[in-house]
Amino acid sequence: MKNILKFIAISLISLCGFALHAAKPADAGKKAAAAKCPISGKPADPKCSVAYEGKTYTFCCGDCRKEFNEARANSLYQKIGGKAALSAAVDLFYKKVLADKLVNHFFDDVNMRRQHNKQKAFLAAALGGPEAWIGKDMRKIHANLKLKEAHFNAIAGHLLATLKELKVKPDLIDQVMAVVGSTKNAVLNRK
Ligand code: HEM
Repeated sequence: MKNILKFIAISLISLCGFALHAAKPADAGKKAAAAKCPISGKPADPKCSVAYEGKTYTFCCGDCRKEFNEARANSLYQKIGGKAALSAAVDLFYKKVLADKLVNHFFDDVNMRRQHNKQKAFLAAALGGPEAWIGKDMRKIHANLKLKEAHFNAIAGHLLATLKELKVKPDLIDQVMAVVGSTKNAVLNRK
Protein backbone atom coordinates (compact mmCIF):
# COMPACT_ATOMS: atom_id res chain seq x y z
CA MET A 1 0.00 0.00 0.00
CA LYS A 2 2.88 2.38 0.85
CA ASN A 3 4.33 1.76 -2.58
CA ILE A 4 1.06 2.55 -4.30
CA LEU A 5 0.81 5.82 -2.36
CA LYS A 6 4.42 6.63 -3.14
CA PHE A 7 3.75 6.05 -6.81
CA ILE A 8 0.69 8.30 -6.73
CA ALA A 9 2.55 11.03 -4.88
CA ILE A 10 5.52 10.91 -7.24
CA SER A 11 3.19 11.01 -10.23
CA LEU A 12 1.42 14.03 -8.82
CA ILE A 13 4.62 15.89 -8.03
CA SER A 14 6.47 15.13 -11.21
CA LEU A 15 3.66 15.42 -13.70
CA CYS A 16 1.12 17.72 -12.10
CA GLY A 17 -0.64 17.32 -15.41
CA PHE A 18 -1.59 13.82 -14.45
CA ALA A 19 -1.44 10.96 -16.81
CA LEU A 20 -2.08 8.50 -14.02
CA HIS A 21 -2.72 4.92 -15.03
CA ALA A 22 -6.21 5.48 -16.22
CA ALA A 23 -8.40 4.60 -19.08
CA LYS A 24 -10.80 6.22 -21.44
CA PRO A 25 -14.17 4.54 -21.75
CA ALA A 26 -14.63 2.68 -25.01
CA ASP A 27 -17.96 4.35 -25.57
CA ALA A 28 -16.31 7.80 -25.34
CA GLY A 29 -14.87 7.28 -28.83
CA LYS A 30 -16.74 7.91 -32.05
CA LYS A 31 -16.83 4.26 -33.02
CA ALA A 32 -16.54 1.43 -30.52
CA ALA A 33 -14.89 -0.68 -33.23
CA ALA A 34 -11.96 1.75 -33.44
CA ALA A 35 -11.38 1.68 -29.69
CA LYS A 36 -7.94 0.84 -28.37
CA CYS A 37 -7.18 -1.15 -25.28
CA PRO A 38 -6.46 1.45 -22.56
CA ILE A 39 -3.80 -0.80 -21.06
CA SER A 40 -1.82 -1.99 -24.08
CA GLY A 41 -2.87 0.45 -26.79
CA LYS A 42 -3.66 -2.46 -29.09
CA PRO A 43 -7.03 -2.72 -30.88
CA ALA A 44 -9.74 -3.53 -28.37
CA ASP A 45 -11.86 -6.64 -28.63
CA PRO A 46 -15.53 -5.72 -28.03
CA LYS A 47 -16.00 -9.14 -26.44
CA CYS A 48 -13.47 -8.27 -23.78
CA SER A 49 -15.04 -5.48 -21.83
CA VAL A 50 -16.09 -4.46 -18.36
CA ALA A 51 -18.71 -2.05 -17.10
CA TYR A 52 -17.56 0.38 -14.43
CA GLU A 53 -19.68 3.18 -13.02
CA GLY A 54 -22.02 3.08 -15.99
CA LYS A 55 -19.31 3.13 -18.66
CA THR A 56 -17.95 0.31 -20.76
CA TYR A 57 -14.18 -0.18 -20.98
CA THR A 58 -12.94 -2.53 -23.70
CA PHE A 59 -9.58 -4.31 -23.75
CA CYS A 60 -7.46 -6.30 -26.17
CA CYS A 61 -7.33 -9.36 -23.92
CA GLY A 62 -8.31 -10.87 -20.59
CA ASP A 63 -4.96 -9.99 -19.01
CA CYS A 64 -5.50 -6.28 -19.64
CA ARG A 65 -9.05 -6.48 -18.34
CA LYS A 66 -7.72 -8.18 -15.21
CA GLU A 67 -5.12 -5.44 -14.78
CA PHE A 68 -7.82 -2.79 -15.08
CA ASN A 69 -10.08 -4.57 -12.58
CA GLU A 70 -7.24 -4.99 -10.11
CA ALA A 71 -6.24 -1.34 -10.41
CA ARG A 72 -9.80 -0.34 -9.68
CA ALA A 73 -10.14 -2.70 -6.72
CA ASN A 74 -6.86 -1.44 -5.21
CA SER A 75 -7.63 2.21 -5.77
CA LEU A 76 -8.26 4.71 -3.04
CA TYR A 77 -10.97 6.06 -5.32
CA GLN A 78 -12.99 2.85 -5.10
CA LYS A 79 -12.24 2.36 -1.41
CA ILE A 80 -13.76 5.70 -0.51
CA GLY A 81 -16.89 4.85 -2.52
CA GLY A 82 -16.12 5.87 -6.10
CA LYS A 83 -17.89 8.52 -8.12
CA ALA A 84 -20.95 8.99 -5.89
CA ALA A 85 -18.93 9.39 -2.70
CA LEU A 86 -16.41 11.73 -4.29
CA SER A 87 -19.16 13.83 -5.80
CA ALA A 88 -20.87 14.24 -2.42
CA ALA A 89 -17.54 15.06 -0.79
CA VAL A 90 -16.60 17.76 -3.32
CA ASP A 91 -20.04 19.38 -3.05
CA LEU A 92 -19.78 19.56 0.73
CA PHE A 93 -16.13 20.65 0.54
CA TYR A 94 -16.98 23.71 -1.59
CA LYS A 95 -19.75 24.70 0.82
CA LYS A 96 -17.09 24.90 3.49
CA VAL A 97 -14.64 26.70 1.19
CA LEU A 98 -17.20 29.34 0.22
CA ALA A 99 -18.07 29.94 3.88
CA ASP A 100 -14.44 30.65 4.76
CA LYS A 101 -13.41 34.31 4.47
CA LEU A 102 -9.74 33.44 4.21
CA VAL A 103 -10.22 31.70 0.88
CA ASN A 104 -13.71 32.34 -0.52
CA HIS A 105 -12.73 35.58 -2.31
CA PHE A 106 -10.51 33.56 -4.66
CA PHE A 107 -13.69 32.06 -6.08
CA ASP A 108 -15.62 35.32 -6.57
CA ASP A 109 -15.40 35.19 -10.35
CA VAL A 110 -15.25 31.42 -10.72
CA ASN A 111 -18.04 29.38 -12.28
CA MET A 112 -18.64 27.09 -9.32
CA ARG A 113 -20.57 24.46 -11.23
CA ARG A 114 -17.59 24.04 -13.52
CA GLN A 115 -15.25 24.14 -10.53
CA HIS A 116 -17.13 21.31 -8.81
CA ASN A 117 -16.90 19.20 -11.95
CA LYS A 118 -13.22 19.92 -12.47
CA GLN A 119 -12.37 19.15 -8.88
CA LYS A 120 -14.31 15.89 -9.03
CA ALA A 121 -12.48 14.87 -12.19
CA PHE A 122 -9.11 15.87 -10.77
CA LEU A 123 -9.51 14.08 -7.46
CA ALA A 124 -10.96 11.01 -9.17
CA ALA A 125 -7.84 10.70 -11.33
CA ALA A 126 -5.48 11.49 -8.46
CA LEU A 127 -7.06 8.83 -6.26
CA GLY A 128 -6.86 6.13 -8.92
CA GLY A 129 -10.20 6.45 -10.67
CA PRO A 130 -10.67 4.96 -14.12
CA GLU A 131 -10.14 8.11 -16.16
CA ALA A 132 -7.07 10.29 -16.51
CA TRP A 133 -7.01 13.98 -15.61
CA ILE A 134 -6.92 15.78 -18.92
CA GLY A 135 -7.42 19.23 -17.45
CA LYS A 136 -4.93 21.97 -16.78
CA ASP A 137 -1.65 21.72 -14.96
CA MET A 138 -2.01 22.44 -11.21
CA ARG A 139 0.92 24.85 -11.21
CA LYS A 140 -0.39 26.88 -14.13
CA ILE A 141 -4.00 27.05 -12.94
CA HIS A 142 -2.99 28.43 -9.53
CA ALA A 143 0.06 30.48 -10.50
CA ASN A 144 -1.72 33.83 -10.81
CA LEU A 145 -3.54 33.46 -7.52
CA LYS A 146 -0.34 34.04 -5.53
CA LEU A 147 -1.42 31.60 -2.86
CA LYS A 148 0.22 31.35 0.55
CA GLU A 149 0.72 28.33 2.76
CA ALA A 150 -2.24 29.42 4.93
CA HIS A 151 -4.53 29.28 1.89
CA PHE A 152 -3.43 25.78 1.01
CA ASN A 153 -3.79 24.65 4.63
CA ALA A 154 -7.29 26.12 4.79
CA ILE A 155 -8.37 24.31 1.63
CA ALA A 156 -6.79 21.06 2.78
CA GLY A 157 -8.43 21.55 6.18
CA HIS A 158 -11.86 21.87 4.57
CA LEU A 159 -11.30 18.66 2.69
CA LEU A 160 -10.20 16.92 5.86
CA ALA A 161 -13.28 18.17 7.74
CA THR A 162 -15.48 17.04 4.85
CA LEU A 163 -14.09 13.52 4.82
CA LYS A 164 -14.49 13.26 8.59
CA GLU A 165 -18.05 14.54 8.39
CA LEU A 166 -18.84 11.94 5.73
CA LYS A 167 -17.37 9.29 8.02
CA VAL A 168 -14.68 8.11 5.66
CA LYS A 169 -12.41 5.66 7.49
CA PRO A 170 -9.46 7.40 9.18
CA ASP A 171 -6.79 5.39 7.36
CA LEU A 172 -8.37 6.27 4.02
CA ILE A 173 -8.59 9.93 5.03
CA ASP A 174 -4.86 9.87 5.77
CA GLN A 175 -4.17 8.46 2.33
CA VAL A 176 -6.38 11.00 0.56
CA MET A 177 -4.73 13.84 2.45
CA ALA A 178 -1.28 12.51 1.51
CA VAL A 179 -2.25 12.63 -2.15
CA VAL A 180 -3.68 16.14 -1.81
CA GLY A 181 -0.60 17.21 0.17
CA SER A 182 1.61 16.08 -2.69
CA THR A 183 0.13 18.86 -4.84
CA LYS A 184 1.21 21.57 -2.40
CA ASN A 185 4.37 22.78 -4.13
CA ALA A 186 2.62 22.96 -7.49
CA VAL A 187 -0.44 24.77 -6.11
CA LEU A 188 1.77 27.24 -4.23
CA ASN A 189 4.04 27.57 -7.27
CA ARG A 190 7.09 26.50 -5.25
CA LYS A 191 9.99 24.29 -6.29
C1 HEM B 1 -5.34 21.70 -2.06
C2 HEM B 1 -5.01 21.39 -3.29
C3 HEM B 1 -5.73 21.92 -4.49
C4 HEM B 1 -6.20 21.18 -5.53
C5 HEM B 1 -6.09 19.68 -5.67
C6 HEM B 1 -6.85 22.08 -6.44
C7 HEM B 1 -7.47 21.70 -7.62
C8 HEM B 1 -8.00 22.55 -8.53
C9 HEM B 1 -8.59 22.17 -9.79
C10 HEM B 1 -8.73 20.74 -10.30
C11 HEM B 1 -8.99 23.28 -10.43
C12 HEM B 1 -9.69 23.37 -11.78
C13 HEM B 1 -8.65 23.36 -12.89
C14 HEM B 1 -9.24 23.58 -14.26
O1 HEM B 1 -10.02 24.54 -14.45
O2 HEM B 1 -8.95 22.78 -15.16
C15 HEM B 1 -8.67 24.39 -9.57
C16 HEM B 1 -8.95 25.69 -9.85
C17 HEM B 1 -8.90 26.69 -8.92
N1 HEM B 1 -8.38 26.62 -7.65
FE1 HEM B 1 -7.53 25.00 -6.83
N2 HEM B 1 -6.77 23.36 -5.95
C18 HEM B 1 -6.10 23.32 -4.76
C19 HEM B 1 -5.81 24.39 -3.96
C20 HEM B 1 -6.33 25.63 -4.10
C21 HEM B 1 -6.21 26.71 -3.15
C22 HEM B 1 -5.39 26.62 -1.85
C23 HEM B 1 -6.92 27.74 -3.65
C24 HEM B 1 -7.18 29.10 -3.05
C25 HEM B 1 -7.32 29.28 -1.74
C26 HEM B 1 -7.46 27.35 -4.92
C27 HEM B 1 -8.20 28.13 -5.76
C28 HEM B 1 -8.58 27.81 -7.03
C29 HEM B 1 -9.26 28.71 -7.93
C30 HEM B 1 -9.70 30.15 -7.64
C31 HEM B 1 -9.45 28.02 -9.13
C32 HEM B 1 -10.15 28.53 -10.39
C33 HEM B 1 -9.11 29.13 -11.29
C34 HEM B 1 -9.70 29.60 -12.59
O3 HEM B 1 -10.73 29.07 -13.04
O4 HEM B 1 -9.12 30.51 -13.17
N3 HEM B 1 -7.09 26.05 -5.16
N4 HEM B 1 -8.08 23.92 -8.42
